[in-house]
Amino acid sequence: MDLKIYKDKQEVANAFSSYFESLVKGKDIFHVALSGGSTPKVIFDILAENYSTKIDWNKIHFYWGDERCVPPTDDQSNYKMTVEHLFSKIDVPTGNIHRVLGENDPSAEAMRYANLLEINLDRVDDIPQFDLVVLGMGDDGHTASIFPHEINLWDAEDHCVVATHPESGQKRVSLNGKVINRAKEVAFLVTGAGKAEKVLSVLEKTEGFEAYPASLVQPETGKLIWFLDTDAASMINQDPA
Ligand code: 6PG
Repeated sequence: MDLKIYKDKQEVANAFSSYFESLVKGKDIFHVALSGGSTPKVIFDILAENYSTKIDWNKIHFYWGDERCVPPTDDQSNYKMTVEHLFSKIDVPTGNIHRVLGENDPSAEAMRYANLLEINLDRVDDIPQFDLVVLGMGDDGHTASIFPHEINLWDAEDHCVVATHPESGQKRVSLNGKVINRAKEVAFLVTGAGKAEKVLSVLEKTEGFEAYPASLVQPETGKLIWFLDTDAASMINQDPA
């Protein structure tokens, strides 16, 4: 596990963008699952601003680790957020963008998306393998859309599961833990003081950490990297990068 702490969101965005560029460089094809929520916005802005001509987007296929079950025009849509902050500013073939059809029936869509992963991605022990899975973490310790009250979904057999947001009841389609931990590499993007308590618990395995789905992220390759800002890292005793 690699831990990288930067002074602010901007520095996290710069560091992740150059990490991403080095990861995709020279690859014939690269399958990446993106995270949603608010944290990726500044990162996508930086990628679009500083890497639109440096990265060969034709080689990269985009998926989501989770999506809200809303239409692609809805402000809650992770796809919509990514179009606004990244895809609308770079030259990526539409055929490389594999969105979760949040407007469709959640169970049917979870199955369809799982089948798509089986077709598009190499499989290891029958589990689709991403080149990179990007994750966020909620201040409740959830990741992708695996929430503490449904932590059992982590070990579900289906590659994609239907989850329920604990407060809003909103349905989500999410990768399960097996697919996340089968990825060649996993990167956490976590910023803001609101995450500090769970960052401490997950990284230092303090009391109750097992209840947080983010603590179950342990890629079999061992390639796990945390990109944190000093606020999110404020409770762990580590010095900024
Ligand atoms: C989502 C995400 C989710 C997100 C965390 C953190 O669709 O909401 O994929 O797992 O990464 O909730 O969200 P913020 O970045 O908004 O804090």
